[in-house]
Amino acid sequence: MNLLTDRIADVIGDFRPTHTIIAAVISNMDRCLAEREMSYRVNVTNTIRLIEDVRSMGSRPVFLSTNFVFDGSVGCYNEEAPISPVNEYGRHKAEVEGYLRANVPEGLVTRLSTNVGDNPGEAHLFSQWYQLLIENKPIVCIDGAMISPTYVEDVAHALVTCCERKITGLFHLANTESFYRNDLALKFCDAFGKKANIIRKPLREFGFLDNRALKADLDSSKFVHTTGLSFTPMGEVIRRFIENVRLNQ
Ligand SMILES: NC(=O)c1ccc[n+]([C@@H]2O[C@H](COP(=O)([O-])OP(=O)(O)OC[C@H]3O[C@@H](n4cnc5c(N)ncnc54)[C@H](OP(=O)(O)O)[C@@H]3O)[C@@H](O)[C@H]2O)c1
Repeated sequence: MNLLTDRIADVIGDFRPTHTIIAAVISNMDRCLAEREMSYRVNVTNTIRLIEDVRSMGSRPVFLSTNFVFDGSVGCYNEEAPISPVNEYGRHKAEVEGYLRANVPEGLVTRLSTNVGDNPGEAHLFSQWYQLLIENKPIVCIDGAMISPTYVEDVAHALVTCCERKITGLFHLANTESFYRNDLALKFCDAFGKKANIIRKPLREFGFLDNRALKADLDSSKFVHTTGLSFTPMGEVIRRFIENVRLNQ
């Protein structure tokens, strides 16, 4: 589906899902600022149009939001924490969240943090780090950046569970473990038995076009308490990642 041109009914025909998980977004934060008008149209205007389209078919929207609705000054944010996005991407997500909260009582908003996987062939943080490791290049981390790295299989399972149980409202769907990015990188290199070459640089030296939230980790106690689900520890995800690397060799 192209969020600029298509209507959902034309795309899915007679299929009538009970829930629709809305993942599509322009997620490149600098692009959101550089191409403000186009990204706003996709991330806000047409996402809201999509939400209303799926509602008109009797389907409940599940919106994937982000930890970047917070400014990153404090960290460990729960659902009660006030939002104050510091970049265009975060403002887009915050606006759609606001629309859902005000207009869509049957909707679900899940704020995700950094998703990681155990498949070296897919694009995520661990596969990027693995590539740097084998090329003997440094892993460069934003100094002071905190994340709640979350196993993507846990996210998928959690979303299906939320749909099955018709859970509505706002939830932080993120690992209960949080890490400084450089500490997670060290754990990753150690697990490979490789000497870590990790460089910490202040945010201002990265030359990003738009701002970044530094302490972007989430408190997911509400989600854990409501669903009884738990998250796979990062040590185990890294172990599975290494196992898959070896299986592919
Ligand atoms: N991955 C994470 O760690 C993370 C963390 C926080 C929140 N989230 C949220 O979770 C969701 C999924 O994340 P992700 O990492 O999978 O994002 P992603 O890799 O950037 O994927 C975004 C998807 O949106 C599609 N898209 C972009 N413009 C579109 C348009 N005009 N019409 C239709 N589809 C369009 C892209 O399609 P093309 O590939 O064809 O461009 C792509 O498949 C996003 O809403 C994101 O904000 C993810």
